[in-house]
Amino acid sequence: MDLQCCLCWRVALLLLMPCGLQCMSVHILTEEPVHVIPGSSLVLKARIEQGPLEEVSVVTWEREPETGIFPETVTLATCPGRSLKCAGTRPNVRVNMEQQETTLQINGYSSSDSGVYAVTVTDHTGAKITAHCIVRIYGTVQFATCGEEVHHVSVSINVSHSLLICSEAWGTDPHFSWFHERVAITKTVGKVSKDGKTLFVTMTPFCGHFTCRVSNKMSYSSATYTAAPCEKEGSGTTAAVVCLVLVLLFGGVLAFLLWRRHRHNNRGERLHEHLDDTI
Ligand SMILES: *[C@@H]1O[C@H](CO)[C@@H](O)[C@H](O)[C@H]1NC(C)=O
Repeated sequence: MDLQCCLCWRVALLLLMPCGLQCMSVHILTEEPVHVIPGSSLVLKARIEQGPLEEVSVVTWEREPETGIFPETVTLATCPGRSLKCAGTRPNVRVNMEQQETTLQINGYSSSDSGVYAVTVTDHTGAKITAHCIVRIYGTVQFATCGEEVHHVSVSINVSHSLLICSEAWGTDPHFSWFHERVAITKTVGKVSKDGKTLFVTMTPFCGHFTCRVSNKMSYSSATYTAAPCEKEGSGTTAAVVCLVLVLLFGGVLAFLLWRRHRHNNRGERLHEHLDDTI
């Protein structure tokens, strides 16, 4: 295919695909859970998908401890450049990049190889996307739990039907939960759909903060929809205080006016007396 044809094809694809430039994704294909027996090898395979105008410039495999205050990230392998020729940083690490798939293999797996594995794909603009696998030890067997973190959580509203809709971009097995003013949704507030993505709000008035929290094995994220502020309980007391203040103010002004008038009258009388004296 010559260059012009290729360009044409890409533009056509771009018009067909609404995601345009931001199509890139990476998924770890390893079925979960993976049982890794110490001494054997751990194999993680990831599939990269990209948009028509996107180009993968670097693929990196890294590992960091699952816990610790300053977890140190270890780069296990990088596959840079157009050819994406991979180089491992350890003798027991093998990495391979083939078309849309990359494979990490760690031979002679030991407990020190446990942690969070991450494969990061960087495109030609420098944008990055990462998928993770947590590899843990249970007894003598290690398990890997793979997936992508929760991304771009947002809440939108369907005003005509009093619906709040929660969406998330590409996390693996996302679980949705809803809160009103940080408290789990009760019947008095509304009803959550079976898949958890939609909240049908029944409370009147429709007010306060509605939060959708999306979580999976790798991470969690949340977004909040803010409706009109709710009338606080005890607004009766506030009204009473405001009323009292107004009464006091009014009383004060009235007293001042009366006092001024009284003083004015006194002065007038004195003036009359003075005039009488001079005449
Ligand atoms: C609101 O929700 C209803 C019922 O699901 C749907 O028919 C309607 O198209 C939605 N409106 C908007 C603006 O999305």
